Amino acid sequence: MVGMSRETIKARVEALGQWFHNLDLDGVATAPDHFLHDYPNVKWRRFEHAIPADLTGKSVLDIGCNAGFYSLEMKRRGAGRVLGIDFDDRYLEQARFAAEVKGADIEFRKLSVYDVASLGERFDVVLFMGVLYHLRHPLLALDLIHDHVVGDLLVYQSMQRGSDAIAPVREDYGFFEDKHFDDPGYPKMHFIEGRYSGDPTNWWAPNAACSAAMLRSAGFEIVDHPESEIFVCRRVGGAGDGAVYPARPKPNGKNGHSNGDAR
Ligand SMILES: C[S@@+](CC[C@H](N)C(=O)[O-])C[C@H]1O[C@@H](n2cnc3c(N)ncnc32)[C@H](O)[C@@H]1O
Repeated sequence: MVGMSRETIKARVEALGQWFHNLDLDGVATAPDHFLHDYPNVKWRRFEHAIPADLTGKSVLDIGCNAGFYSLEMKRRGAGRVLGIDFDDRYLEQARFAAEVKGADIEFRKLSVYDVASLGERFDVVLFMGVLYHLRHPLLALDLIHDHVVGDLLVYQSMQRGSDAIAPVREDYGFFEDKHFDDPGYPKMHFIEGRYSGDPTNWWAPNAACSAAMLRSAGFEIVDHPESEIFVCRRVGGAGDGAVYPARPKPNGKNGHSNGDAR
């Protein structure tokens, strides 16, 4: 809001609880003591060159938008419609306030990634940053994102653990071949039954190869990999080729289980 005093902004920031995004709201830092330092600014600086500098007229969906850091950056690059979704009311309130202070026309809506089909709309750019490892069903989410909301580009980020190497993987291996499973660059995802870093919503930690493999498997072509955790992808495959809703016909033309189905 134009003309809001620094004291008013500071009071509102404090009233909105603990912030995960450190935003600069007219000189008021929302999370100055973040354990990842000036986050997500430090992350953004490592891959911003890989995102189109001019998004004039483009539509953007920011899934798991939190306090809207990336939604605001997309708007700054000229995006037309920007929709941020998150299932946490507290973060959505923070995002709405931040956009108000910045005078940015961004819509924020309460919606889970599992419900993106209900949007009934594809976006030129979809951001799926920092959410996958918080989900119990990560591949389901990627399939839904592919099949229902990505029009062109997907920008993906996940917390990753294990090797950053991405080993070449053959299409098939014989039953008695098993050495490749121990290659650090083979796709692997660690399941976290308890907590990680005190957070019970950290369910998974893929390595870089696993992020890449899941993205390919969900129907994305990786066009850039500017840093270990970031993948810029293009949606491939035609509209309505849903893996999940509706079930994708198998390559042999039948539905149902088939070892020959790459998905
Ligand atoms: C680690 S933060 C990442 C925030 C931001 N995208 C970024 O990269 O900085 C994860 C966010 O995902 C949201 N989230 C977790 N599960 C979700 C779900 N099923 N649907 C929508 N948002 C979800 C959380 O509320 C939180 O805001």
